[in-house]
Amino acid sequence: MKLVTIIGARPQIIKAAALSRAIRNHYADQIQEVIVHTGQHYDDNMSQVFFDELQIPRPDYNLHVGSASHGVQTARMTEGVEALLIKEQPDFIVLYGDTNSTLAGAVAAAKIHVPIVHIEAGLRSFNKSMPEEINRIVCDHCSTLLFSPTKAGFENLKREGFPIDNEPPYTIDNPKVFHCGDIMYDNSLHFANIAEEKTDIIQRLELADKPFILATIHRDSNTDHSERLCAIFEALIRLSKDCHVVLPLHPRTSKLLKINLNEELQKQIFNNPSISLIPPVSFLEMIALERHAQLVMTDSGGVQKEAYFFKKPCIILRPETEWVEIVETGNAILADADKNHIMQAWQHFKDNPPTMFPEIFGDGHAAKFMLERMLENFSRKVL
Ligand code: UD1
Ligand code: UDP
Repeated sequence: MKLVTIIGARPQIIKAAALSRAIRNHYADQIQEVIVHTGQHYDDNMSQVFFDELQIPRPDYNLHVGSASHGVQTARMTEGVEALLIKEQPDFIVLYGDTNSTLAGAVAAAKIHVPIVHIEAGLRSFNKSMPEEINRIVCDHCSTLLFSPTKAGFENLKREGFPIDNEPPYTIDNPKVFHCGDIMYDNSLHFANIAEEKTDIIQRLELADKPFILATIHRDSNTDHSERLCAIFEALIRLSKDCHVVLPLHPRTSKLLKINLNEELQKQIFNNPSISLIPPVSFLEMIALERHAQLVMTDSGGVQKEAYFFKKPCIILRPETEWVEIVETGNAILADADKNHIMQAWQHFKDNPPTMFPEIFGDGHAAKFMLERMLENFSRKVL
């Protein structure tokens, strides 16, 4: 059985590590994986570092599309992916999440009748001003096998009319939805101890005996709007008087800080001994930081979940989240880009640190479950 995996943005490269590892460990003689990197993320610390650290096979192809407007970037990727699918003739394509690389893969594959497997299917923010919401809806509705990491994702698909008790053969017109746990949880469990052994970021940033908040910000809805970005950074400055803040900066945010943050805030951020403003870190460094942090503050989808995996409270810098369960259990608070809400959420978690983190994201073996379903559905070709 031959599959083509599309990766492009940082979280997809990280997720692909779990599937590639499960192929290597369990199905090396049955599954051939061809990895296509669209080149959406290209800085070493947004791409190469993960291949080196997480033992992901080198991509067989890199389309080197780089950064551009949504239309241009997606069009370049679609063209490149289509050509490679025609050349490679896989049994199916694997797409992760909701980026422009996901959308391009979905459009390219569906139009030339290559079945799609969507990992992280069914998530919805119900906010179509997010580019990701458009990408995930299109991808889900072009897919043959849909793997939802959560019960809420499964229910969303049911509500959108996906059949639930249908029988094989599964096709784009008779798609199959599975609720199967989260592939990122597989990774966090697998790499948690390795991260402790192999990284020294806690020592390097002198955090061993210092409580700290780990923050990340990269959503366009925050970075591209001066008012929102200023509100978040005002809150960070206020928080840093109470607790050290570590902020690995996404390149999008680094660029826009200088444009959308007023001069006074820039001064207070860049020369603040209580805020460690650092370049993007590797995955092992990131999970070491998550493990040691007192609290996580983020607009990232992946980082919200990892906070939960490591039993840390999370302040979500968005008005809504796809990971509704972590809010419902009281372990995360939606504070949006609102200074007062952020401060209130911080105070709430300081007074009431959460202790119960029920198992929402499966058992850490999601990748193996998914590969079994793929083999059942697609193994026809002899390698
Ligand atoms: C993308 C995804 C988003 C995901 C995020 C993960 C889309 C629409 N968005 O957002 O869903 O949460 O990745 O990190 O697909 N840049 C660099 N170097 C890089 C990559 C990007 O400098 O290696 C800068 C460029 O200025 C670029 C900007 O970051 O214009 C945004 O990059 P892009 O890939 O378009 O979107 P992200 O914000 O990274
Ligand atoms: N991450 C990382 N280094 C960083 C910031 C994040 O390795 O400096 C990892 C993080 O642990 C998670 C993933 O990147 O696994 C999340 O990606 P990101 O926040 O870029 O995107 P999202 O999940 O919001 O799509």
